[in-house]
Amino acid sequence: WSPFVVSAPGKVILFGEHAVVYGKTAVAGSLNLRAYALVTPRDDATVRLVLPDIDIDVHFSTHTLPQIRKEDLEHPAEIESLVTEAITVPVGPGRTAILTFVYLYACLFCSEDRTSGFTITVRSLLPVGAGLGSSAAFNVALSAAMLKLTGQLSDEGSSAGDKQLINDWAFRGEQVAHGTPSGIDNAVATYGGFVRYRKGEEQTDLQSTQALRVLITNTKVPKSTKALVASVRVLRDRHSPIIDGIMDAIHSISTKAANLFGGPDAGDLEVQLQDMIRINHGLLATLGVSHPALERVRDITGTRGMASKLTGAGGGGCALTLIPNGLPSAEVDAAGKELAEEGFQCYETNV
Ligand code: MEV
Repeated sequence: WSPFVVSAPGKVILFGEHAVVYGKTAVAGSLNLRAYALVTPRDDATVRLVLPDIDIDVHFSTHTLPQIRKEDLEHPAEIESLVTEAITVPVGPGRTAILTFVYLYACLFCSEDRTSGFTITVRSLLPVGAGLGSSAAFNVALSAAMLKLTGQLSDEGSSAGDKQLINDWAFRGEQVAHGTPSGIDNAVATYGGFVRYRKGEEQTDLQSTQALRVLITNTKVPKSTKALVASVRVLRDRHSPIIDGIMDAIHSISTKAANLFGGPDAGDLEVQLQDMIRINHGLLATLGVSHPALERVRDITGTRGMASKLTGAGGGGCALTLIPNGLPSAEVDAAGKELAEEGFQCYETNV
């Protein structure tokens, strides 16, 4: 077979992070920043994973990687522990990427002849651990690559059935990486677009009657989605009626925002969205997932007439700021300068 490349986009959550884990609605869009996987054949019974952006270059003999039987696929937790045992190198942030790679390999190649090998090199334009779905883009690209390698894609990954398969396997990778993810990140990375998402429901495409200008600010404070989702769960276990009320309020925000897009009140859209952004961030801060750096972004943009909220898991990572159409560009430039002085990195884009 010939070398090939697959790619998958990152995402930005406008509303509903964390609440989406508990079956509430979220609104998210794919980003024009992608992860790219180049797959090349080799004939030495070795699989190699190269992630130059995070200094990973590991290889495994196809004979030492865990062998999974088809029946075992019904017990993902056991497969995960088998895979964890098989991986002794390296400890650190890259371990999650290696773990999901070996997990997907072990599952998807369960009935394959393992004598030949391949190299997967992944480059990503997405900042890692910043809340922009870098891990989901990685897992979607990996699952698409491995499904293609095992001949399971009917139509180069573009048919509805292919996408569902890619999304299902990427979700398994996300579970290995993050514990109890909602599935929103891998769904947006698989299907793209600007969507309303709720666990267990088909996602709905949203059409905005006007393009929204947004600023994404990476505070560069590292965060762990797994730890943040777990911390919200602990809080909910301790105070479930209160936290459930907060989740319901976030659900109302997402539902309202989703209905605003394409609605008749386009003129009012930005004003309403600014309110939704402020309220949603306040609720997330109450859940304990903000960070002083994110509050700094809110202060800087807030004094210049813009509303900001954290996006993704929080605890650092990125903030999302809506830039109202009528706002003088001098205000936007001044805010950008102040954010850069804090050491943050800003990207301006449209939703
Ligand atoms: C992470 O991008 C979004 C969270 O809601 C977790 C998830 O949905 O799996 C924090």
